[in-house]
Amino acid sequence: MSEDASHYAGPNRVFSGVQPSGDLHLGNYLGALKKFVALQDEMECVYCIVDLHAITVWQDPKVLAEQTRHIAAAYLASGVDPSKAIVYNQSAVRAHSELAWYFNCVARIGWLNRMTQFKDKAGKNSEKMSVGLYDYPVLQAADILAFKATHVPVGEDQKQHLELTRDIAAKFNHDFNTPNFFPLCEPLIKGPGAKVMSLRDGLSKMSKSDPSDNSRINLTDDADIIAKKIRKAKTDPGEIPGTKDGLEGRPEVANLVGIFAALSETTDEAVLAEYEGQGFGVFKPALADLAVEKLSPITDLMSRYLADPEELNRILANAADKAAEIADPIVGDVRKIIGFCGA
Ligand code: TYM
Repeated sequence: MSEDASHYAGPNRVFSGVQPSGDLHLGNYLGALKKFVALQDEMECVYCIVDLHAITVWQDPKVLAEQTRHIAAAYLASGVDPSKAIVYNQSAVRAHSELAWYFNCVARIGWLNRMTQFKDKAGKNSEKMSVGLYDYPVLQAADILAFKATHVPVGEDQKQHLELTRDIAAKFNHDFNTPNFFPLCEPLIKGPGAKVMSLRDGLSKMSKSDPSDNSRINLTDDADIIAKKIRKAKTDPGEIPGTKDGLEGRPEVANLVGIFAALSETTDEAVLAEYEGQGFGVFKPALADLAVEKLSPITDLMSRYLADPEELNRILANAADKAAEIADPIVGDVRKIIGFCGA
């Protein structure tokens, strides 16, 4: 699609989301939450807990609300400030589902058939997956475009979904002859931490669904567990090289260096320069200390927020009203553009 994003005249706005479908891990933190915090002083930010996305696979109704508060607590404990950013859960704002339906009639089946995340999640069982799981990226496009968001901070695994969002926006603008009604959002992916890999296998990404808990650092892990997982992380018999060329063919080492760089807000090059020639007997304890220093305060704060579920409910409900104030008029305009009677 060839529409120029620079013609969009609306305000800059950030939108992103995290699913309430299990513990958050270091990949979620570095790929998403940490970026959320940095952006809230730069632009209007809308951070959603995407419970509609979570139910594309089975979620126990007894724990869904609790898991939603868990993500809210993680946002706040990471530094997202509800007086600056809008933090709410997706199901509380109807605009998401409504716009997703309209986009179902814009997106093409061929586009969805190319989505690698569905293929990865469904594996050989695609016939047994919910229609919602297949449609997941269309709902994601609706999330972003219900707010006419211009910037979307995510990890690298979401790149294809954001390309689809841009395609849906461009096709809607084109089909209804409303040029630049929807912006073509800019993915904010770059930087260390965009793709945190498993601690057990440097070629697969750190993921909630990995059966080995040692493959990831959870935001709920205590200091001892973090240190143990880093100690056990797969490496090789070599040393830390001085340049990135020396990380070639060493995905596990590259991953640990990347995690170090992301946590200490520096570059891979700077980490390599500092630890050049050191063995993992030195590097791993340094990384474990750094991870504990950065993550423990978040874990502690999370438990404090979670101790007051009513307060979290109140924060989410207030923000849902604010989110609806932005999204409802946009979806109202979409209704008019489509030409519904009474719109
Ligand atoms: P979820 O909950 O699966 O992931 C939340 C965020 O964490 C990032 N992430 C990672 N980043 C780096 N390394 C990893 N190993 C890693 N694993 C996960 C994801 O890229 C994501 O940014 N589909 C989205 C949720 C969503 C959304 C949206 C995002 C729904 N609607 C609209 C942006 C805009 C997701 O992946 O959630």
